[in-house]
Amino acid sequence: MNTEKIILDNIKYRRSIFPVSYIDQDIPDEIIKELLTYANYAPSHKLTQPWFFTVFNGEGRSALADKMAELYRAQTNEEQFLQKKYDNIKEKILKSAAIVAINIAYSGIVPEWEEVAAIGCAAQNLWLAARAKGIGGYWSTPGTLSGLKDFLQLGRNEACLGLFYLGYHHEKETTGLRKPIDEKIRWIKS
Ligand SMILES: Cc1cc2nc3c(=O)[nH]c(=O)nc-3n(C[C@H](O)[C@H](O)[C@H](O)COP(=O)(O)O)c2cc1C
Repeated sequence: MNTEKIILDNIKYRRSIFPVSYIDQDIPDEIIKELLTYANYAPSHKLTQPWFFTVFNGEGRSALADKMAELYRAQTNEEQFLQKKYDNIKEKILKSAAIVAINIAYSGIVPEWEEVAAIGCAAQNLWLAARAKGIGGYWSTPGTLSGLKDFLQLGRNEACLGLFYLGYHHEKETTGLRKPIDEKIRWIKS
């Protein structure tokens, strides 16, 4: 396969791969670091590089699983609380080889939306690098994220913008569901 097709197919066939599909196989620390090295190549206005990461793997996953489940309990009315959902939150984390908290440090020197956009670029790089290595992932943004500030030891100008779940898997290649691009392009020719 030529290089162009390999690169373009990696974009086309990148999918959200969820923990239910992950197999029981660790991702070595060096590989996780390598994925984050590609995330780090993301662009940012004025090179603020607002992203930083907290990696949970091995035994480190248990603390995150407990924290996320307890945040769900704390933020849910007793009548709406579902034990199954509580258990599922933990299970998803423990079934993943690693979970990367995608964090942002707002620099204050460019508009916040530009910093958030740069985080999106970094996350996409991580996602594509993972796929290139046969690793599935997905970006999760539950309402409970804001409760992770102390747990992640985030500063005043910092926030967690998602948990990125990672794991090896045997899912088949599929293209994503998208509305046709022709509906999304406005050509100006004269
Ligand atoms: C910023 C962002 C936040 C997301 N948050 C969630 C989420 O909380 N839960 C979830 O199941 N998927 C989440 N996703 C994944 C999307 O649902 C997924 O990318 C979309 O359905 C398209 O599927 P694909 O990734 O396979 O192309 C998020 C994606 C992005 C970019």
